Amino acid sequence: EKGGYDYFMLKEIAEQPKAVADTLLGRIDGAGSLTLDEVRIPANVLREVDKVVIVACGTAFHAGLIAKYAIEHWTRVPCEVELASEFRYRDPILDQQTLVVAISQSGETMDTLMALRHAREQGAKVLAICNTNGSTIPRESDAVLYTHAGPEVAVASTKAFLTQLVACYLVALYLGQVRGTKYADEIRAVVRDLASISGAVERVLETMEPVRELARSLAGKNTVLFLGRHVGYPVALEGALKLKELAYMHAEGFAAGELKHGPIALIEDDLPVVVVVPSPRGRSVLHDKIVSNIQEIRARGARTIVVAEEGDDAVVPYADHLIRVPVTPTLLQPLVATVPLQVFACELATARGNDVDQPRNLAKSVTVE
Ligand code: F6R
Repeated sequence: EKGGYDYFMLKEIAEQPKAVADTLLGRIDGAGSLTLDEVRIPANVLREVDKVVIVACGTAFHAGLIAKYAIEHWTRVPCEVELASEFRYRDPILDQQTLVVAISQSGETMDTLMALRHAREQGAKVLAICNTNGSTIPRESDAVLYTHAGPEVAVASTKAFLTQLVACYLVALYLGQVRGTKYADEIRAVVRDLASISGAVERVLETMEPVRELARSLAGKNTVLFLGRHVGYPVALEGALKLKELAYMHAEGFAAGELKHGPIALIEDDLPVVVVVPSPRGRSVLHDKIVSNIQEIRARGARTIVVAEEGDDAVVPYADHLIRVPVTPTLLQPLVATVPLQVFACELATARGNDVDQPRNLAKSVTVE
């Protein structure tokens, strides 16, 4: 049932191109507009929404952090993202005009379920993004957009995460479509970009041997840091989470701009630091800033592992190891940039002798608060 792979996780990483394509399937019509009929929340209600609040845990929370960039950029509706376990304990401000998006692979995560119950009690509309048909979270929500990753068996989430991102982009575009903040041709352009992502993920997977080799060479390390900016920041958090849960190593993700406010003190000789570099096109200011961050940490001895777009030459002089990802629009880059970090964590954990499908102390679905 592992389809020839040693671990479910390897199989699920390899299934990502298909999972991404399947999650788009049937949701785009011939003209390139979105047909999210499943979102049963009426258009007039969605037009009244004045705030989006995303609640989720762990990897799904990281998908939510990325969704915030897309939602605010494409719809101009303010969006907050909150850990489900923190949400209801701070008496959040919610009303009928709040759209709460609950993201969960299993659909059974108790923290997320309690958060959405609280939101509905306050009159908010809840849309679930979920991978498990008929599970509790979609059953208790006003509407659901299913991710079509197929069953995810390995405890660490991989293909479900990528499909959560796709679903979040679809929700953001749909909101833009319904509210008229995105024109039909703009939506078509993003949809075209999304449709090409499956092939891009496939290409990333074909080039992972050097990443695996690097991961094995770092199996004796105690700490790995991850840096990113903009949507690369949640990608850094996700890379660190994968390494913690699988390799049982100290791993931390930082916003690269925060380095000088503290974390740079951690940099010491030969410390591996993974840096997720945004596209040099578009938001080039961001790109230049992160290139100087890479220089700063390298000058202090860090071993830099740079994830950068094909053709981004500016990073070459400062990268001890360079991981290339295909050119994608900035907002969609997490779909390709996360994949090498999954492979990295999986291989490093295996090199340390860990069972990547069943990491210690973890369960696939956490049904207690
Ligand atoms: C990390 C991981 C967990 C889950 C989290 C939420 O690899 O798998 O962090 O993402 O427990 O689970 P779901 O999505 O089922 O609500």
